Amino acid sequence: MMLNVFDDHTDLSFQAARIICDQIKAKPDSVICFASGETPLSAYSLFTTLMMAEQIDYEHFTLIGLDEWVGVPPENHGSCAWFLRTNVINPLNLLPGQYRLFDGMTSDLPGECVAMDEFISERGGLDLIVVGIGMNGHIGFNEPGVSPDLYSHVIELDEITSTVGQKYFKEETRLTKGITLGISHLREAKTAMLLASGERKAPIMKATLEGEISMEVPATIMREHPNGLVLIDQKAASLLTARE
Ligand code: GLP
Repeated sequence: MMLNVFDDHTDLSFQAARIICDQIKAKPDSVICFASGETPLSAYSLFTTLMMAEQIDYEHFTLIGLDEWVGVPPENHGSCAWFLRTNVINPLNLLPGQYRLFDGMTSDLPGECVAMDEFISERGGLDLIVVGIGMNGHIGFNEPGVSPDLYSHVIELDEITSTVGQKYFKEETRLTKGITLGISHLREAKTAMLLASGERKAPIMKATLEGEISMEVPATIMREHPNGLVLIDQKAASLLTARE
C-alpha cells in the first residue's frame, strides 16, 4: 500500500482524477468502481473534464456503482445512483450497457447481488476501485464486523452510517439497510484507491493506517492490498504519528 498526503482536497482531487484517467488511457476497457459521497465529488468533476479535454476514448470502459441505500429510489437526490448519474454518467454520456448501479428498490435484493457479481466477473473483474471511508471505517457499506470474504451483499447499517448519511438528503430519511460490493471485490481489484479529506476523517484515518488490521475497521484491509493507494489531505493526516 502507498500513502500520499496532499496539501489540500483540491490537490488530492487532481491526483485521483489523473489516476482514473490514466487507468482508462492504459486500458480502454477498464472496469472501474466509483464510490459516492462528498470526498470524490471534485475528483469526478476533474476526471470528466480531463477525459474530454484530452479526448481519451472512454467508449469501452465500464462503470460500477459501489453501493446504494436500500429503499431509496434513484430519482432521490440523496441516492448513490443520482450522485453517479449527475457527476459521471451524464457528463460522459455513458451508454446504458456501460454501467451498472445497484437498484435499492428491487423486491429481489439477493438476485440484485448475484446480478452485480456476474456483471463484474463477466467483464474480467475490477481494474480499479475508488472508495471513500465512513466515519466508522466502513468502505461502501461494509460496516464494522463484516466478513472479508463477501462479494455483493445487503447489510444492516451501523447507527453512525444512518445518522451521518442524513447529510445527503434534503429531508430526514429512514436509512436502515445498504446494498454494496464486498471486501472481496476490493481485495481482488487490481488497484484499490481510498480517498479521505478533512479533519473529521483524521481519527478514523489514524485507526485505518496505524491500528490493528481487523474487520472492526474495514478500511484497514487497504494495508494488505498489493496495489493499494491511500490519498489523503493534510487535515485527514493530522493525527498520524509519523507526522507529529
Ligand atoms: C457513505 C458511503 C461510502 C462513502 C462514505 C464516505 O456512507 N456508503 O461509499 O465513501 O460514506 O462519504 P463522504 O465522502 O461523504 O464522507
